[in-house]
Amino acid sequence: MSSSTRRAHGVDIREAVAGDAEDIGRVRHASWQVAYSGLMPADYLAGLSVDGFVLSARRMLADRAARRAEVLVAEVGGVVSGFASVGPSRDADEDRDRVGELYAIYLDPAIWRLGIGARLQQVALQRLRDEGYAEATLWVLATNGPSRAFYEHTGWRHDGGVSGFEAGAEVLDETRYRRTL
Ligand SMILES: CC(C)(COP(=O)(O)OP(=O)(O)OC[C@H]1O[C@@H](n2cnc3c(N)ncnc32)[C@H](O)[C@@H]1OP(=O)(O)O)[C@@H](O)C(=O)NCCC(=O)NCCS
Repeated sequence: MSSSTRRAHGVDIREAVAGDAEDIGRVRHASWQVAYSGLMPADYLAGLSVDGFVLSARRMLADRAARRAEVLVAEVGGVVSGFASVGPSRDADEDRDRVGELYAIYLDPAIWRLGIGARLQQVALQRLRDEGYAEATLWVLATNGPSRAFYEHTGWRHDGGVSGFEAGAEVLDETRYRRTL
């Protein structure tokens, strides 16, 4: 079946509320386990718990006003099945008033490739535009081919920025993408 015939219906994208932390944690955990299998060390991935992700989701939701960040969730059939977070760039070499960042975008693996990520990202980037940012960046694991394909399809380009992500005993290469808003 071609992806254009698999577009999802009944998708609602809204601002996250504090009570979404459990769902955001569950979605992030599930998404990591599938997307990063073979990219991150197996023992590191196996050691990550849903509870740990729920805890960081609670923190992210509680801190967002102070950090000028926003968190959006995608509900599919009334169930929170994805989230995205945005705010000012975290990079020391960027102007935090001009450059925003897509911090994270994760969907439950059961709903990948239905056009929901693109819609969620559109809303998230519109929030950055509304806040007056002119550009946005994001960091992605260099080995994360599917996500890089998604970003390249939706207007992002690698800008030469490189960094490292600590996954247990290993430091994995991350690459920065950029786009105008
Ligand atoms: C990345 C992610 C958010 C994309 O959301 P999605 O709903 O699956 O993607 P969409 O259906 O909106 O894709 C839009 C377009 O991007 C491209 N694309 C998306 N996923 C792709 C893949 N796995 N391989 C190649 N191209 C892909 C396609 O061109 C696609 O259009 P098409 O389906 O009409 O061909 C989602 O797949 C996800 O949560 N992945 C795992 C987590 C992750 O790696 N997040 C990013 C961390 S930096």
